[in-house]
Amino acid sequence: MIIIKSERDLEAMRPACAVASAVLDEVAAFIQPGVTTHDVDEFAGSRMRYYGAKSAFFGYRHKSSKKYPCQLCISVNEQVVHGLSGPRPLRFGDIVSLDVGVIYNGFIGDTAKTVAVGGCGLLAQKLMDVSEQALYEGIAQAVPGKRVVDISRAIQQYVEGNGFSVVREFVGHGVGRSMHEDPQVPNFVDGKASEKLRPGMTIAIEPMVNAGLPGVKVLNDGWTVVTQDGSLSAHFEHTVLITESEPEILTWHDEKMGLKLKA
Ligand code: MF3
Ligand code: CO
Ligand code: CO
Repeated sequence: MIIIKSERDLEAMRPACAVASAVLDEVAAFIQPGVTTHDVDEFAGSRMRYYGAKSAFFGYRHKSSKKYPCQLCISVNEQVVHGLSGPRPLRFGDIVSLDVGVIYNGFIGDTAKTVAVGGCGLLAQKLMDVSEQALYEGIAQAVPGKRVVDISRAIQQYVEGNGFSVVREFVGHGVGRSMHEDPQVPNFVDGKASEKLRPGMTIAIEPMVNAGLPGVKVLNDGWTVVTQDGSLSAHFEHTVLITESEPEILTWHDEKMGLKLKA
């Protein structure tokens, strides 16, 4: 069942998405060689607390009986999504996918991006650029009258046209008071019936893009998803509102946001 958000819902959800966006950018700026993924997790948790928000991921159960044990998802190099933090130090040249989900005002904001640690090689840079642009190609289709599959097709065509592949096993999703609402938003055309997009729908669009083959597997920790062929992977995500006209990206913020929220 798709939950259409009222203007009142959106008044609560916009700040939740803005907090997620602010935390993601602050965490991205914290990334540098030598920092451990555990340091990143602690920093993310402290920034969420600063805004009066909580991690939407900590304690979450998803295709796994175990509760997610971290504040954010941090996935390095061939790790695709749901990476767990620990004592691993980030090294110059790594690429790191950061996925931030917060609960604030009773709503969830979900947003992700991949960044290089210091710098990275040309292939990694192209992978990140193509994945980010694929997200915007998908967002451009998020208008009333189109269907979810139009988003999926735009992402898949852009990614494959650039020689990379999209992950099948994990998909975007509706988002609101719960992290995963209907509809599913695949990054490929799956041939199934596809919902019409309507104003008031809020969806997380999130291409997961592999430099090599699309196959993935889950590590023994029960969470970390990696590419089967060991190739690099990147992930970009925005929470987006379908309006009567242009899509509204909810996961953005301006410089003064902290002050406004505290006011
Ligand atoms: N943020 C992920 C998504 O974009 C979900 C994370 S599930 C968790 O859908 F358990 F790892 F937190
Ligand atoms: Co996410
Ligand atoms: Co998501």
